[in-house]
Formats: sequence, C-alpha cells, structure tokens
Amino acid sequence: MLNPSTAENDAGYRAAMGQLLVLYTQVDQLIMEVCAERISTAPDTAAKLALAKQVGDESKHVSIQLDWMETFGVENHPLITDSQQDAIRAHFRSLPWLEFLVDLYVCVEALGSEAVEKIVPLADPGTRESLRIPLNDELDHVAFGMSRLKLELASLSEVERRAFMARIPDRVEALTRKFENLDLNAPALFTAVGVDYQKLCAQLELRECELFDELAA
Ligand SMILES: [Fe+2]
Ligand SMILES: [Fe+2]
Repeated sequence: MLNPSTAENDAGYRAAMGQLLVLYTQVDQLIMEVCAERISTAPDTAAKLALAKQVGDESKHVSIQLDWMETFGVENHPLITDSQQDAIRAHFRSLPWLEFLVDLYVCVEALGSEAVEKIVPLADPGTRESLRIPLNDELDHVAFGMSRLKLELASLSEVERRAFMARIPDRVEALTRKFENLDLNAPALFTAVGVDYQKLCAQLELRECELFDELAA
C-alpha cells in the first residue's frame, strides 16, 4: 500500500502537472495562431518562411501535448479564458515588427521555454518525453527571433538602436505583469511540481540579462 503522504503528494503533483500541461498547450496554440496571422505582413520571404515553419512546429507541439494529456488523464479545461485569449491575440496583432520580435521571442519563447526547461528534471518520465521535441524546437524559434532582432537592430541608427534597447526591459516587465494578471495560479503550480519559484524568478532574470547582452553585442 502506498504511504498516504506519498499518495497525497503524488495526487498533488499529477493535478499540478496536468494544469501546467494544459497551460503550455494553450500557449503553444496561441503562438501558432499569432505567428500564422503575422505571415502575410512579415517584412520579407525569409521571415515569412520562418514563421510558417514555426506554425507547423507549434501545431506538432499542440498535438503531442494533447495526446500526452489524454494518456496522463488530464481534464483539459482551458486555464486561459476565451476573452483572455482574445486579448493576447489582439496584443500581438497590434505590435510593429520589432516589438513583435521582442514580445514573442525574447519574452514568450525564450523566457517561457526556460521556465518549462526547469520543470523537465522534476517531471515524471512520460511528461519529460512529451516535452523533448517541443523544447528542442523552441531553441530554433528563439534562435530565429534573436538573430532577426539583431538584424533589424543593425539597420537602425545608433540613437534609434540605443533607444529601442533601453525599452526592452520595460517591455519584458509589462508582459510579465500581464501574464501575472491572467491569474493562472502559476507560482502554486510550479511549486507543487517541485520547482523553487523564487529561484526560478531569479533564473529568469539572469536569462533576460543574457538575452539582452546577446542583442547588445
Ligand atoms: Fe511550442
Ligand atoms: Fe515555439
């Protein structure tokens, strides 16, 4: 018989991991839609092709996660409500190309997948396997976003470039606040699967600094 405290911990872990899987899948689907919408107005063919490839990747991630969630026994009730999803789509739709690159790739793709990476070593084998292909593809997406951002920044005047760089931390901060205001209970979910949330926040700040330095180099 299972030790009651272990069974309880296990039930808490499974419930929280299930919710995190729902959240990750919803975010991937939103990214898929946001990227698909951006294809027609992207500045050149290289960008259109990268966005189209990403739409395919995110579609694959959503389908891998949906399959795994069914096996894992997750009740797939959306955490991000319909109106919140509309607001997220509207946010990305409203952004000029450079701001789009910062918000989607620096913030959502790079920092978001960094947070998911921290879950991997703590996850059960099935969940870990379900994240393997998606997280590997996210590296590609971040690489595209960062290289494209560097390319665009190089075409600005020194004054414009400095001004744009100076606004990046505020953009990340504002988007982080928006995410927190979605009230998704993320700190409790991360904690319940064994992530030290304070440490995670510190690691994300460090990663943000690295990304900033990479863009400034
Ligand atoms: Fe993804
Ligand atoms: Fe991605």
